[in-house]
Amino acid sequence: MTQNMLASHLDEAAAIIRGRLGSFRPRVALVLGSGLNPLAEEIEGPIRIPYADVPHMKTSTAEGHVGRFVAGALSGVRVIAMQGRLHGYEGYSAVEVAFPVWLMRRLGATTLVTTNAAGGIDESLSPGDFCVMSDHINLTGRNPIANADAAGMAERFFSMTGAYDPVLRAVALDVAARAGIAAREGVYLGLLGPSFETPAEIRAFRALGADTVAMSVCEEVIAARHSGMRVLGISLVSNMAAGIEGASPTGAEVMDVAKTRESQFSTLIRGILGSGAFADGEGPRA
Ligand code: HPA
Repeated sequence: MTQNMLASHLDEAAAIIRGRLGSFRPRVALVLGSGLNPLAEEIEGPIRIPYADVPHMKTSTAEGHVGRFVAGALSGVRVIAMQGRLHGYEGYSAVEVAFPVWLMRRLGATTLVTTNAAGGIDESLSPGDFCVMSDHINLTGRNPIANADAAGMAERFFSMTGAYDPVLRAVALDVAARAGIAAREGVYLGLLGPSFETPAEIRAFRALGADTVAMSVCEEVIAARHSGMRVLGISLVSNMAAGIEGASPTGAEVMDVAKTRESQFSTLIRGILGSGAFADGEGPRA
């Protein structure tokens, strides 16, 4: 991509979406992970915009990822949800994966809430638990800011300390505890995929300090922090990671477990949005 091409692509994409949103200005960007897409059906007054209608935007090819933005109200908060995300394993570059995050920021969102299904590495986790990301280890080997254009949008070198907002993490754990939903914090490790890990890799990742593992999130969060958004990351532990208790994960298992947690996921996200942490007037934190 040549200099400034990314910024002009974002401008063109934002103009098309603004034409569909009218005066609606989202505050929270929500990325719905594997099996967690149904939450978008609960958005009130939905404005649905297929990714295919947005210039320069790639579309979802992963199973269960619908491939559209849904804007509207959830728990009284103006959200724009990605009903289906873009992954590196679909053949998309880090910039292409980050594009919708930058786009939602341009549309007005000051917080990113990103969710996924993940494998549990820490043995105190069980399938069906939620894990609030306290930090991440990016082993995708990619970074969306490693690009002349992205560096032109904000400082090239920026801190990833405290990337996962401590206040939002506490709110998420509190909402889960009150609703009787099993949740704890943990360090998330992101990979490119799409092969699941080997048991030897999982042993190595545990030694590195990872509690959960999956094939998304890191590039989105780096892009969000680069553009000054607050971030909350939540994984649904859909399976134990390879070799843990003899596990050998499959895509079907991930989807099946996500299905059983649809209503808990809805309670959790609605509770977080309804907590007052997103009251109008609150600006983005750098
Ligand atoms: N590994 C990687 N990605 C995943 C897993 C896993 O065990 N479960 C869900 N996404």
